[in-house]
Amino acid sequence: MAVSKDQVLAALAALPGPDGRALPQTGTLSEIVANDGKVFFSLTVDAAAVRDWEPVRKRAEDAVRAIAGVQSVMVALTAERRPGAGGARPQPAAPARGQPGAAPGHGQGQGTVGVPGVEAIIAVASGKGGVGKSTTAVNLALGLRDLGLKVGILDADIYGPSLPKLLAIREKPQTVGGTRLKPITRYGLTVMSIGFLIEEETPMIWRGPMVMSAITQMLREVEWGTLDVMVVDMPPGTGDAQLTMAQQVPLKGAVIVSTPQDLALIDARRGIAMFKRVNVPVLGIVENMSYFLCPECGTRSDIFGHGGARHEAERLNVPFLGEVPLHMTIREKSDSGLPVVATEPDGPHAKIYRDIAAKVRDQLAAGAKPAPKIVIEA
Ligand SMILES: Nc1ncnc2c1ncn2[C@@H]1O[C@H](COP(=O)(O)OP(=O)(O)OP(=O)(O)O)[C@@H](O)[C@H]1O
Ligand SMILES: [Mg+2]
Repeated sequence: MAVSKDQVLAALAALPGPDGRALPQTGTLSEIVANDGKVFFSLTVDAAAVRDWEPVRKRAEDAVRAIAGVQSVMVALTAERRPGAGGARPQPAAPARGQPGAAPGHGQGQGTVGVPGVEAIIAVASGKGGVGKSTTAVNLALGLRDLGLKVGILDADIYGPSLPKLLAIREKPQTVGGTRLKPITRYGLTVMSIGFLIEEETPMIWRGPMVMSAITQMLREVEWGTLDVMVVDMPPGTGDAQLTMAQQVPLKGAVIVSTPQDLALIDARRGIAMFKRVNVPVLGIVENMSYFLCPECGTRSDIFGHGGARHEAERLNVPFLGEVPLHMTIREKSDSGLPVVATEPDGPHAKIYRDIAAKVRDQLAAGAKPAPKIVIEA
């Protein structure tokens, strides 16, 4: 039985907020996502009033759960930052991670508490869209799995989640104990994506605070279990949303994906600068679609002038992790939910991704240093 937004609103109308007004009248309610019995929304409140709101959040969850047909509910409380209260500020005084005096774990600043049971969280990011970030994230995660690590993958691209497609996952996560979600397991990876909760064609309109609450929930209200590495597929770009995410997700490092063209490299540089700003070490750059391998004759063509990312990495003094060719097999496999590392483990592409994974693991083991200072040109 389908659950409608109106049913959810009606249930919430019977709930008073801390000031006695009915919840829908308090101006805190986000867009309500109700799909297939899964309901998701957030309450954006003044940071000073979070304590008063927490019981309301709980009651809202209980009230929605009581609606016939509701299978799971996620209600997030998001504190709205007041102007001047700070935000994506660099923290020059904080010692960098991996250096003497660094706090164990995560160094982006206050509030970035690690996820219990998860040893290291790394972001796969790019300055611009469509460079193959999600494909790289999935195959890198599988490469790390092949190194004997226990690996999870989180789709943080809530505007255009790709993991349901790239891993051919159609089932919905089950809830545990009412509120926590059980991730999906595929190819030995523990997987979570907002795309599991929302139909593929549903346009996703997120307000700023809701973006973070969705990510926070996927990090903290999912039964990730014990993981050596969690790979986070970031949304493309270096805007405010990405910066906030880079700051608030407790990252041990970031892998930057770029294609070899100059324009993409400028964007990659912006990506590196963004992680630098929030004190997250850059584990290295992957050059994707580095060269074209003809599937018919095996001839190699450097159609984008291959090697740009390697030079850029040298110039910026960050590790270069490897070159992935532009190849039909990678595209076909990726887009049909059969990532090459899992389905052609003995092929040449899987080896490339495993080599990249080994470098990432080594960087993590060595305690990667924050990115060097760089100057961003135009
Ligand atoms: N090395 C490759 N060879 C061939 N095709 C590739 C390669 N890497 C990625 N692709 C294809 O390019 C397209 C974009 O890749 P992908 O979705 O991974 O990029 P993205 O950076 O995550 O994009 P977005 O910014 O939209 O999230 C997909 O169709 C994918 O199959
Ligand atoms: Mg993507």
